[in-house]
Amino acid sequence: MCGIVGYIGYNDSKEILLKGLEKLEYRGYDSAGIAVINNEGVHVFKEKGRIVDLRAAVDTNVEASTGIGHTRWATHGVPSKTNSHPHQSASGRFTLVHNGVIENYDLLKREYLQNVSMKSETDTEIIVQLVELFANDGLSTEEAFRKTLTLLHGSYALALIDNQDQETIYVAKNKSPLLVGLGFGFNVVASDAMAMLQVTDKYVELMDKEMVIVKKDEVTIQNLDGEVINREPYTAELDASDIEKGTYPHYMLKEIDEQPAVMRKIIQNYQDQNGELKIDANIVSAMNDADRIYIVAAGTSYHSGLVGKQFIEEMAQIPVEVHISSEFGYNMPLLSKKPLFIFLSQSGETADSRQVLVQVKEMGHKSLTITNVPGSTLSREADYTLLLHAGPEIAVASTKAYTAQLAVLAILAEVTGKSRGLELSFSLIQELGIVANAMDVLCDSKEEFEAIAREYLATTRNCFFIGRGIDYYVGLEGALKLKEISYIQAEGFAGGELKHGTIALIEDGTPIIALATQGFVNLSIRGNVKEVVARGANPCIISMEGLNMDEDRFVIPEVHQTLTPLISVVPMQLISYYAALHRDCDVDKPRNLAKSVTVE
Ligand code: AGP
Repeated sequence: MCGIVGYIGYNDSKEILLKGLEKLEYRGYDSAGIAVINNEGVHVFKEKGRIVDLRAAVDTNVEASTGIGHTRWATHGVPSKTNSHPHQSASGRFTLVHNGVIENYDLLKREYLQNVSMKSETDTEIIVQLVELFANDGLSTEEAFRKTLTLLHGSYALALIDNQDQETIYVAKNKSPLLVGLGFGFNVVASDAMAMLQVTDKYVELMDKEMVIVKKDEVTIQNLDGEVINREPYTAELDASDIEKGTYPHYMLKEIDEQPAVMRKIIQNYQDQNGELKIDANIVSAMNDADRIYIVAAGTSYHSGLVGKQFIEEMAQIPVEVHISSEFGYNMPLLSKKPLFIFLSQSGETADSRQVLVQVKEMGHKSLTITNVPGSTLSREADYTLLLHAGPEIAVASTKAYTAQLAVLAILAEVTGKSRGLELSFSLIQELGIVANAMDVLCDSKEEFEAIAREYLATTRNCFFIGRGIDYYVGLEGALKLKEISYIQAEGFAGGELKHGTIALIEDGTPIIALATQGFVNLSIRGNVKEVVARGANPCIISMEGLNMDEDRFVIPEVHQTLTPLISVVPMQLISYYAALHRDCDVDKPRNLAKSVTVE
């Protein structure tokens, strides 16, 4: 989950590379570096820390119109200047940046590089040393690069420069995302289009096991046999303003506030000219052909999958299983005879999920990806795609993508159910409109949630989220939000389960955030709250109009019982945001995390 950029053209490359890395910093921010090449040779600048630290280290007197850059999330080797990219070959002739994991790097090091002293602890370094080894054997840079690629097992997005050739950047991709951007008199390389939107919106997708010779006026894509591949460019549908914070202090707050607008955009995009909700007929057919649906996802997307199960089983009456992708791939359950796989992924690049997609495709099963990124790996490789239309989600903590996933899953469930003759007792389109309005109300109640964060979470070392039924799933998501941005140890629990052991952790003042939006279990969850209060807990009940009682700390506007997760999650998001703020945490780039986990 690192970020890569490259530029070759007529302008000085340093600022373009640094700005591109700033747009990719959400992908990984342990360390960063750039390498630029001019008549004096290659100049490498790299630092542990953020792009701002790198910027301070760059010699602004160096002018160079060819360069590569990298922002790192450490996989092999601690975050340090030595381990940061770019990495250079022994002689310094070749310089390389890499996103991914080379699984056989140790074997390659022992087999080919036993006489080469490594400068870093990274797997990446063996790549650039191999290129030099083969170039020293008389191969051209292109041939040495290609030969190296044929030896690599694992994931990589690579950019390499040769200090004997200022006119070329060598690029390659396998499993990790990488694009080539096209310009007039220049070309660029980027892990995603957002990085280089400042210079171009024309991009060419790269497929696995492809390498590219990038010059300022020519881009040649080849397979590893050296055969040239022609591929049409596409225009990135991103608006530069989408990836700016504007007046917001953090992307996360901006993206929480964007949720009502995203709801309305989804309603608009999934509506036909008669005002009915619509889903591609092939997808509905694939849903109806299935005897069981397997939702596979990670993190927040897994949590939205749990809610999606409820939607599909209730509205379409198709059995659903929800699985954590990193487990499913290595511990696949006994599958039904006619499964359909649904991959939920904001980024569309999560390696844990992608490795499952590869497996189920090999087994001949149909797959649908629901993602926020058109053209992402999981989208390209699945049979079908449904887009979230949520706009770029930059903050590492996922918010608008979660509620967008729920909305699209609800629409998918409703349209499929209708195709099976099942009519809902309510109008989903109308209810989603009510959800958007309710989100507006919650986004306008920030002071309340800041007060709750201050009252319950200012000094605590742990926190529990409890709920029953669909509230339990939202509690899991609330706990993840709080953990990942405030570093408070938090757990989501089924309300009735606490007493089976975990209640032992409840002490005087332990904050318990209880969700009570489901009428049929309203009294039960309140009974669970009483159990923990009897042991000293500090309860914060978040209920819904119509079910609320005097003891409740916050009451959310009423929406249809089935759709409450789309709004009950908003208080979770905002409370977590303010808890992190009060603790001076880096809300948008929490420690140890990255936005898109493209390694298994
Ligand atoms: C969400 O807040 C987390 N940052 C993380 O759990 C994320 O949801 C997970 O990595 C899955 O990402 P995806 O949706 O892009 O596949």
